[in-house]
Amino acid sequence: MSNYHIKNLEEYFQVYRKSVREPENFWEEVAEEHFTWRKKWDNVLSWDFNKPEVKWFENAKLNITENCIDRYLFTNADRTAIIWEPNGTEEEAQHISYKELHKKVNKFANVLKSKGIEKGDRVCIYLPMIPELAVAMLACARIGAIHSVVFAGFSSKALATRTNDADCKMLITSDGSYRGNKTIDLKGIVDKALEECPGVESVLVAKRINSDINMKEGRDQWLQPLLDEASDQCEATTMDAEDPLFILYTSGSTGKPKGMLHTTAGYMVYSAYTFKNVFQYKEGDVYWCTADIGWITGHSYILYGPLANGATTVMFEGVPSYPDAGRFWDVVEKHKVNQFYTAPTAIRSLAKRNIEFVEKHDLSSLKVLGTVGEPINEEAWHWYNDNVGKNKSPIVDTWWQTETGGIMISPLPYVTPVKPTYATLPFPGIQPAIMDKNGEELSGNQVDGRLCIKYPWPSMARTVWRDHERYKTTYFSTFKNMYFTGDGALRDEVGYYRITGRVDDVIIVSGHNLGTAPIEDAIDEHPAVAESAVVGFPHEVKGNALYAFVILKEVGESRNHDNLRNEIHQQIKDKVGPIAKPEKIQFVAGLPKTRSGKIMRRILRKIASKQTENLGDTSTLLNPEIVDEIIKKAL
Ligand code: PRX
Repeated sequence: MSNYHIKNLEEYFQVYRKSVREPENFWEEVAEEHFTWRKKWDNVLSWDFNKPEVKWFENAKLNITENCIDRYLFTNADRTAIIWEPNGTEEEAQHISYKELHKKVNKFANVLKSKGIEKGDRVCIYLPMIPELAVAMLACARIGAIHSVVFAGFSSKALATRTNDADCKMLITSDGSYRGNKTIDLKGIVDKALEECPGVESVLVAKRINSDINMKEGRDQWLQPLLDEASDQCEATTMDAEDPLFILYTSGSTGKPKGMLHTTAGYMVYSAYTFKNVFQYKEGDVYWCTADIGWITGHSYILYGPLANGATTVMFEGVPSYPDAGRFWDVVEKHKVNQFYTAPTAIRSLAKRNIEFVEKHDLSSLKVLGTVGEPINEEAWHWYNDNVGKNKSPIVDTWWQTETGGIMISPLPYVTPVKPTYATLPFPGIQPAIMDKNGEELSGNQVDGRLCIKYPWPSMARTVWRDHERYKTTYFSTFKNMYFTGDGALRDEVGYYRITGRVDDVIIVSGHNLGTAPIEDAIDEHPAVAESAVVGFPHEVKGNALYAFVILKEVGESRNHDNLRNEIHQQIKDKVGPIAKPEKIQFVAGLPKTRSGKIMRRILRKIASKQTENLGDTSTLLNPEIVDEIIKKAL
């Protein structure tokens, strides 16, 4: 029996059992069966969660781009690798074949080399969803440079922090980007960010919106003329299995974003294996994930996972609401999409629109629907299932994280019976544990607690870039010998998992992870603000929205509150990005604090979600009287 493609439930259980009983044999077989290696490994796995240190496929040699591109040149050179769908419907889609992708990646890799980029160097990529983004990432991987993609909706401050943290030598961007009917001045944001990034020696600029931009002499160059001149042959650099492939930042409970480091072989094997099974991808299918490549979903399931399977993957530049709320379904019909993967927040916003936007399109090509990024509520699940899937396309509710590199808990379509709002069963190789507050694992079914993983899997992040201690304290210190996810989960009577949400100070807004600390820092930097606390509260479309409680300094008291709110919004937009804009800002005289000075966020969360009947014991607070006052003026 092939381990690589699971086709029915019995096979799933067999494969799963094997993956737990003999993990090394299991992963060795998957790795041997489906990938191209320059040299095989000496050892499948060595690990120690106390250090923590994890190595997969030690001493194997490979290049991920040979697995994602070159090997298809012999058999399927003319097959479409990437279908690029532009923002506007007036512009034509592009179909990039494996052969063309090979040339583009080689040319780009030669340009990187000519600019002095070498194996191990970090390259920051700040691009919209245009083909150059995919090509730039693969070009880095071809020569062993480490890409650090920063989502092109982030502010100049956020870009600067990430560029400096990874010590990037080069930055790749575009003149601007399209987003629905708006254009965004990306190069302007880059210029501002780079005032604070002395380490960036060169900037390559792709042309997208033909805007008039500033080019800094000696630093900035247009990309296209360099590509035109470059050779389309570039030997792939031999990489060690554990050589870094990329850094991707994710928010944490404290201020600084964490640069999660992913390495080469394990990430490749796991992203490819999960892609094949979670989407039941068959040769010739057209697969579409609507995420931005700037997030892990795009890295693993627009780029690496699909290409490592020789798939055809759609890359969409635009937004679901432009030119109208039928755009997703228009694209599905146009490209005859077979697997469609999106976020609950997008589903909820489209479900609010006229159903005709869905009904007027032919969605009969769809076979599998997926969701990711946050818990999906029952109503959105049914809307998706009834109207998009027409009750015939299974929904895979996939739970995973930037840190896990690939999907961890998910149904396999046509294999695992689905249950609304449940991520169902662990993927082969994944050993989840539900822990109680005292650090004991809860055995059996019908339990809920904190979700941990007790055994390594190939695509787990290996460290936080240049901060291994933080990696250890965040993920391996809460529960002994376990990877702690930061999520709560329950296991039902048949052993299905349901993710109940974050149990730390990370809030997921429209599927984006936001740490409260950087938003509070941005608010506190306003000269009129003394202190602030940001919490999440349930929101119909976004899943969660942000509620900021802000204490003003005396000087600010007399100021117009609406103006202040606008200024605070602007401050957050500049420092963190527009996605972090609070839905509500309430000015308060004080914040509920414990005697040791810690803000009682639990109380603020209840006030924000209007559940003030049962606030629990507030008598231990330093300032219990403040609670009533905040409730009285709550928004
Ligand atoms: O809380 C979980 C939630 O998203 C977090 C990870 O966010 P990020 O690193 O940005 O990666 C998102 C895309 C993989 C998780 O800790 N989450 C992700 N998928 C689900 C989910 N919560 C519930 N159900 C899911 N399917």
